[in-house]
Amino acid sequence: MVTSTRAAFLSFTALMVLCLTATLARGGEYAEVTDNGYGAVATVQPRATEAAMNAYAAGGNAVDAAVAAALTLGVVDGHNSGIGGGLFAVVHWSDGRVEAIDGREMAPAAAHRDMYVREGEYRPELSKRGPLAVGIPGSVAALDYMMEKGGKASLARHLNAAADLAENGFAIDGIFARRLKRHTEDLSAYPGTAAIFLDAQGQPWPVGHRLKQPDLAKTYRAIAEKGGSYFYGGGFAQTVGQWMEHNGGLITREDFADYELIRRRPVVSEYRGYSVYGFPPPSSGGVHVAQMLNILEGYDLSALSEANRYHLLAEVMKLAFADRAYWLGDPAFAKVPKGLISEAYAQTLRARLSLEKTTTVPDYSTPPKAQEELFGKHTTHIATADKDGNWVAITSTVNTNFGSKVVVPGTGVVLNNQMDDFSAQPGEPNAYGLIGAEANSIAPGKRPLSSMSPTVLTREGKPVLTLGAAGGPTIITQVLQTLINHIDLGMGLEDAMRMARVHHQWRPNELFVEKTLVDPIREALKEKGHSLRQLGDYGSTQAIGLDEQGHFVSVAEPRLEERNRVE
Ligand code: DON
Repeated sequence: MVTSTRAAFLSFTALMVLCLTATLARGGEYAEVTDNGYGAVATVQPRATEAAMNAYAAGGNAVDAAVAAALTLGVVDGHNSGIGGGLFAVVHWSDGRVEAIDGREMAPAAAHRDMYVREGEYRPELSKRGPLAVGIPGSVAALDYMMEKGGKASLARHLNAAADLAENGFAIDGIFARRLKRHTEDLSAYPGTAAIFLDAQGQPWPVGHRLKQPDLAKTYRAIAEKGGSYFYGGGFAQTVGQWMEHNGGLITREDFADYELIRRRPVVSEYRGYSVYGFPPPSSGGVHVAQMLNILEGYDLSALSEANRYHLLAEVMKLAFADRAYWLGDPAFAKVPKGLISEAYAQTLRARLSLEKTTTVPDYSTPPKAQEELFGKHTTHIATADKDGNWVAITSTVNTNFGSKVVVPGTGVVLNNQMDDFSAQPGEPNAYGLIGAEANSIAPGKRPLSSMSPTVLTREGKPVLTLGAAGGPTIITQVLQTLINHIDLGMGLEDAMRMARVHHQWRPNELFVEKTLVDPIREALKEKGHSLRQLGDYGSTQAIGLDEQGHFVSVAEPRLEERNRVE
């Protein structure tokens, strides 16, 4: 099937707007930031922030707070993230080591590159909805590991607290209700899903309905009691495996048992005196944030006019996303070149840029050491930090709203549609308009390429900033712009996040701009050759830094306030 560029663009734009507002807009409160003197948290959801605060109050640390928030988001925000999905975490542990924890989904053993082809035709909807869209979820393994390694309480405690909330229910707000309405048809296709999110007549629950999720509570409690093995190979895996067998899926109980949590070395780069720890492949986030910062380090960004600075940002984004499409994939299957983040490569790319006009980027470039691997081998972001020196950045997702839309009856767990993050058909755009190549093709046991960019910065060896974002490919460029605005322009974190954002991902060849980008800058960008597209306001960045006295400064996405007014 041939997807027209326009159709691809439209679906990309619609998805970005839907997905991003879904992630961000929450009725009532908007700024979910807290510093209780011991630890800090920033999430997009009041209940998740409260759970983190309760974890601190009970003597927990930033790891407890982050895990409690993540499990709570799976209850009150299950259309964005949950135990049916995956996550990446970058953690600066209190002993000073920094680790990248890979709880990304894995393709099942029976996955193959033509699994979305029917009678010779590529069927893009199959990787977006239904049983074939689901990858083996990694969140439980990742949260379990984090608690084992650095939490003070137990995973069971946080699971049971979140299970209480799932049992007692919470009032659906306007945003949740709108998401339900928008996806009613898809949700109604799966009885296990409809039984939770729709009423007996198949209508979506209205605002104010108290959503109780007893099955999800049961699953949480069973993991609390029996450990992660209940999920990976035990009762949960068995129920899902059986359902998949009868409903055209490929996932088996053994796939769950074979799930592998991977502890990776972060991508580390130096930027103006900071060490930036990003997430390595299978995320593209760490590599491309580092690559773009390397190029930008050759400029005095604070001395540039605003138009030139935005122009330069767009140009480096284009170069990075062209490389992403070709080089990036699961490092166990694809050779991701070390040279992408080398200074020499940054110099080569910098030499292609002009402040006067746009560069044409017809294709990816070839970095040095292209034969070498980088290392030996609808989403939410949670930031927490404590006085012991634990700084956590978790980005967690089921991919698009309600993931695959599948809840296997009896489990209460929304299963992801992360398989769509593979380049299912080389050259065909996925839900975010991203295209990819062989490096990100489907293979058994492979992890789909991600844009999630949990990031921690240190200065002189001490953690000073944790941040990350939601929003598909814009995650990478949100993190980049927050860092530039904060570090180069000297803005406080909140102002750095408020600045009008731009996003370029090479294909489509458009510069996405927020509505707040003022006309004179738009005109200057057009004169330089950019083709602009307005993408409303987008993004959801959460960050925690330190003020001059060394106190935590937590900031949740400032756009939430405006969005809640509008929605
Ligand atoms: O891993 C990724 O890059 C995507 N699955 C993230 C999805 C996302 O951010 C949805 N957002 N609002």
